[in-house]
Amino acid sequence: MESSLVDRFGRVIKDLRISITPRCNYKCSYCDPLGIIQKDPVGTVTVADIDNVLAAAVELGIESLRFTGGEPLLRQELPEMIALAKQVYKIEDVAITTNASLLKRRLPDLLKAGLDRVNISFDASNPEVFKKITSGGNIKQVWEGIDAVVAAGLQPVKLNAVIMKDVNDSEIIGLAELSRELPYHIRFIEYMHLNNSDSDSYFKHFVAGKDIKAKIEAKFGQLEKIDNDPSAPARLFKVKTWAGAIGFINPVSEPFCGACSRMRLTSDAKLRPCLLTDREISVREALDSKKPVEAVIEMFLLAAHRKVKSGITVPTNRPRTMVSIGG
Ligand code: 5AD
Repeated sequence: MESSLVDRFGRVIKDLRISITPRCNYKCSYCDPLGIIQKDPVGTVTVADIDNVLAAAVELGIESLRFTGGEPLLRQELPEMIALAKQVYKIEDVAITTNASLLKRRLPDLLKAGLDRVNISFDASNPEVFKKITSGGNIKQVWEGIDAVVAAGLQPVKLNAVIMKDVNDSEIIGLAELSRELPYHIRFIEYMHLNNSDSDSYFKHFVAGKDIKAKIEAKFGQLEKIDNDPSAPARLFKVKTWAGAIGFINPVSEPFCGACSRMRLTSDAKLRPCLLTDREISVREALDSKKPVEAVIEMFLLAAHRKVKSGITVPTNRPRTMVSIGG
């Protein structure tokens, strides 16, 4: 019988997200990387750690996996990790979330390892706005990465945009329009308080998903709803005649905790049952024990038990920011 990871509210946990580095070559204010550190801190998950975590996860019925960061492509061992997930543990769906700046060159190795899908953080289509948000990012490199993913036939290519008022709300229409000719899923994510900005500044920049949608509809007409997996965070729509889709991920204004199927492992080896709750369980000791897989299974069960019914979306002092939790 297949075992499964079920929390106290009956939610089955099927999706695991593993942050493999807190480093990022971009510095977006909503995510708040601590500058460009050159080396991963001691205790950052290793390939051997990932091996043990995946062995435990598949035993518990995890079906989909995402490697995130920081920027996961900064880890040279990413192909090895993907190969473990796909070839050894046969995980059905293995994806990464990346800023795509380094993707063009690395994609062949990732595909060889078995990568199924790529989500790309893409907050502006205007090169100047893009550069400003990312603190120096070159949009041309990102487009090369996106084109490589499209050429490789990975579907769907999801582009994520976090919209902040007076930072990139001017980009909403241009981003939505990217779904006109190619089958991209452009997904607008509400800005979550995960960077320890003060609450005044947070509220100054927050934009509700319904306001983003209204802006798009005012320009292109009413969006048509597309049915998708109810446990997926995005509600999907499209402009009738367009090739792609437009999604809204509204964790703040329309929390979707009831359908949560996720668990996260932070880059410093802590299970985080809820993105928006600062409750974590270290698996370092379990990973370094004599029977790591059994010990990590215990930690997963404990973490599932500690999943809260709903996360905290109001500004609060967070001990950790998004960059090392992983999206
Ligand atoms: N609010 C919403 N989304 C965020 N991301 C990072 N920080 C935040 C935040 N504060 C998103 C990134 C990326 C994914 C990993 O998480 O845009 O697409």
